[in-house]
Amino acid sequence: MGVGPGDPQLLTVAAVQAIEAAAVVAYPVARLDAEGMAARIAAPWIGPQQRRLPLLFPMVAEAEPRRQAWHAAAEALAQELSAGLSVVLLCEGDSSLYASCSYVLLALAQRDPPVPVRVIPGISAVSAAAAAASSQGHPWPLALQQEPLLIRPTPETPAALETLLAQASAAGTVLALLKLGHRWSWVQPLLLARGLLDQALFAQRVGWPDQLVEPAVMVSPAEQPYFSLLLIRQGWPAVLP
Ligand SMILES: C[S@@+](CC[C@H](N)C(=O)[O-])C[C@H]1O[C@@H](n2cnc3c(N)ncnc32)[C@H](O)[C@@H]1O
Repeated sequence: MGVGPGDPQLLTVAAVQAIEAAAVVAYPVARLDAEGMAARIAAPWIGPQQRRLPLLFPMVAEAEPRRQAWHAAAEALAQELSAGLSVVLLCEGDSSLYASCSYVLLALAQRDPPVPVRVIPGISAVSAAAAAASSQGHPWPLALQQEPLLIRPTPETPAALETLLAQASAAGTVLALLKLGHRWSWVQPLLLARGLLDQALFAQRVGWPDQLVEPAVMVSPAEQPYFSLLLIRQGWPAVLP
């Protein structure tokens, strides 16, 4: 289930109730000694009587360790369920959007007999970033009228970003670029050169106490943390207030 991007107040009522009803609270970690982002977000809603179950998802590029981790996580959850325990699996942001728990869901679906699951959506970082900007006096509707909205990882190369920007401009598509992080050091000069910096919104650690959400033109071209994203709107519909 999704726990939102950072602020514990952004969990849904359904998410809080599911945590309260669970005997076991599972969550992804990149290392076994790490706390886990989703667990930190949900911490105010997890009681001392609930058992915590960190699930290791190594941050590696190779396929096999990742496959093994997803199936090991599914196996760990299935064991808890077969012991008659209720389990929740926490997931940062929304549970269906570039989410590690989606892989566990797919692994669970391969098991025989199938494991019954309920997926609870969460607020995505993209939605929370737009709302934060609007709350700070920079109205940032994600999409209006017939506008397409494309949520995707930041392209890996300047050439790929150029192509994407040209396509988005032609189609009136609003872009939400995730996994910005270190790529900002070349994305910023590229947007500056194309006069697009003042049409973009930068959002970092949305929902956390050190949240930074501001027009991209204000952000220096230094590398940024993994939990950063960019919204780019190159135009507006003709009919507006
Ligand atoms: C693997 S995706 C997870 C997306 C998440 N499931 C969601 O619905 O927002 C990770 C990327 O989402 C973005 N992201 C997630 N949480 C964020 C936050 N609190 N502030 C800014 N960006 C965030 C960043 O671009 C990060 O690189």
